[in-house]
This record gives sequence, C-alpha cells and structure tokens, in this order.
Amino acid sequence: MGQLDGKVALITGGARGMGKAHVRRFVDEGAKVVFGDVLDEEGAKLAADLDGAAYVHLDVTEPADWEAAVRAAVDAHGALHVLVNNAGIMKHKTIEEMTLEECRRIIEVNLVGQWLGIKTATPALRDSGGGSIINVSSTEGFIGAAGMSAYSSSKFGVRGLTKSAARELGQYGIRVNSIHPGGIITAMSMQHDVVEATAHRAEAILDNLPLRRLGGTKEVSGLLVFLASDDSSYCTGSEVLVDGGLVTGF
Ligand SMILES: NC(=O)c1ccc[n+]([C@@H]2O[C@H](COP(=O)([O-])OP(=O)(O)OC[C@H]3O[C@@H](n4cnc5c(N)ncnc54)[C@H](O)[C@@H]3O)[C@@H](O)[C@H]2O)c1
Repeated sequence: MGQLDGKVALITGGARGMGKAHVRRFVDEGAKVVFGDVLDEEGAKLAADLDGAAYVHLDVTEPADWEAAVRAAVDAHGALHVLVNNAGIMKHKTIEEMTLEECRRIIEVNLVGQWLGIKTATPALRDSGGGSIINVSSTEGFIGAAGMSAYSSSKFGVRGLTKSAARELGQYGIRVNSIHPGGIITAMSMQHDVVEATAHRAEAILDNLPLRRLGGTKEVSGLLVFLASDDSSYCTGSEVLVDGGLVTGF
C-alpha cells in the first residue's frame, strides 16, 4: 500500500531536478501524476519510463497551459487532490547588474506562476472534496543573499501567498503549505553563475551546515509525500525546512 494511493497530483517543473524525483516518488507511492514543464523532450522521456505519470507542456506563467494541465488531470483520473508548485528559475546577479526584465521574469515564474496554479487548480481541488497544495519556496524565503534579490524576493513572496491561500481555502478542505529546501544538488544549484559566485567559499558553506553535506533530490520528496498525504491532515499554512540545518545560524 502506498502513502498516496487514490490521489491525483499535478506537479510543475517535473522534467528534471527535484520535480523529477517527486514525480517518481509519487508514482511509487500509488498516486496518479500529471506533470508539466517547459522541457518537453525530458518530460516525455520521463513519462515514457513510468506507469501512472503523464507529461503535459506547462509554462507556469501561461494561463492557457494551466487550464489544459488541470483539465488533463481531471479528464484522465476524474479528480485532482494535490498541486505541487515546484517550477522555478534562479539567476545570480547583483541588483546593479540585473536587468528589470530578468528580475520580472524570476518573480513571474517563481511567484506569479504559483499564484496562477492555485487560482486555476482550486475549482478542481474543491470539486474533489479538498486536497493539498505544496508551494516550493527556499531557505532564501527566510534569508537574503547577495546576488539573489529577485530570487529571494520571489521565495519570500511564496510564504505570503501560502498563508493567504491557506486562510482562503481551508473552508473547502484544501490545505496549503510551503517547503523550504536549501543546498540540494540539482542543475539549478550547480548552474554556472551560482558556482562561480560561491566556489571560493564552498568549504565554509559545507562547514556551516550542521549535517556537513549537501542534500539529494530524493531527500526532499519524502517531505512532499507527507504533505500531500492524509498524514498531514491538520497542517496548513506551515513552513517546513529541508536544508540540512542551513538557516540555524552562520
Ligand atoms: N536546488 C536547490 O538547492 C534549491 C533550494 C531551494 C529551493 N529550490 C527550488 O526548488 C524548485 C526545483 O528546483 P531544482 O533545484 O530542482 O532546479 P531545476 O532547474 O533542476 O528544476 C526546475 C524545473 O523547473 C522548470 N521550469 C523553469 N521555468 C519554468 C516555467 N516557466 N514553467 C514550467 N517549468 C519551468 C525547469 O525546466 C526545471 O525542470 C525550484 O522552485 C527552486 O527554486 C531549489
């Protein structure tokens, strides 16, 4: 018996990184999964590997893509119980270096994309008798970092979005929580601009972590499963760190 038997889940940014690990784990736990991304080739390849997961093109900034993704889940499985707002982008640039367009795009994908997902999925979640929305924020939703103004702003914003949505949607049995990963090894955390900016203090970063190591994508999926499952039935509006202790101190 899986922890997510009988659940239908929509996961964004599922073609690679943490999203890919979540898609695999949700399927393993018995969920029916529809996942979206803008990386169509990778997404289709992953779906072909799995029984119980279907890929749709879903740019989280596009309302029509969201409508089609929610419809795909409900048409295929008759309900929608879980939305994982995982898609995100990051750029490491100082405020002086970053263009307005770059800043707007980060906030559009990371924050407005989640808002749009909640807006579009809510009727289907309500019609399914309630459910769980999990918004992926970051440790940068609690602390700022030089070069991360837009990213950090978007991730702080996700906390406000989560709390407001939790207050609006609790009456329908829809729970809304945020998770806050930090230091997880993915294409995003290893992207060139980030590595370049942090390489000189890589050892200090590891030494500062109580667990003394970076995290793997699968170590985040377990938390997602808990928040998606009925085991977390009294959790809403909460913020859960999965960061090896990164924000305990510096
Ligand atoms: N890696 C970390 O250490 C870390 C830490 C904290 C938070 N996060 C957050 O975790 C989430 C997953 O990141 P990751 O580390 O797996 O990175 P990743 O780059 O491997 O995955 C992000 C996914 O989002 C997709 N995406 C980007 N723009 C999109 C759009 N407009 N519409 C739909 N999909 C889009 C990408 O194609 C990619 O598949 C992100 O929200 C990220 O901000 C990551």
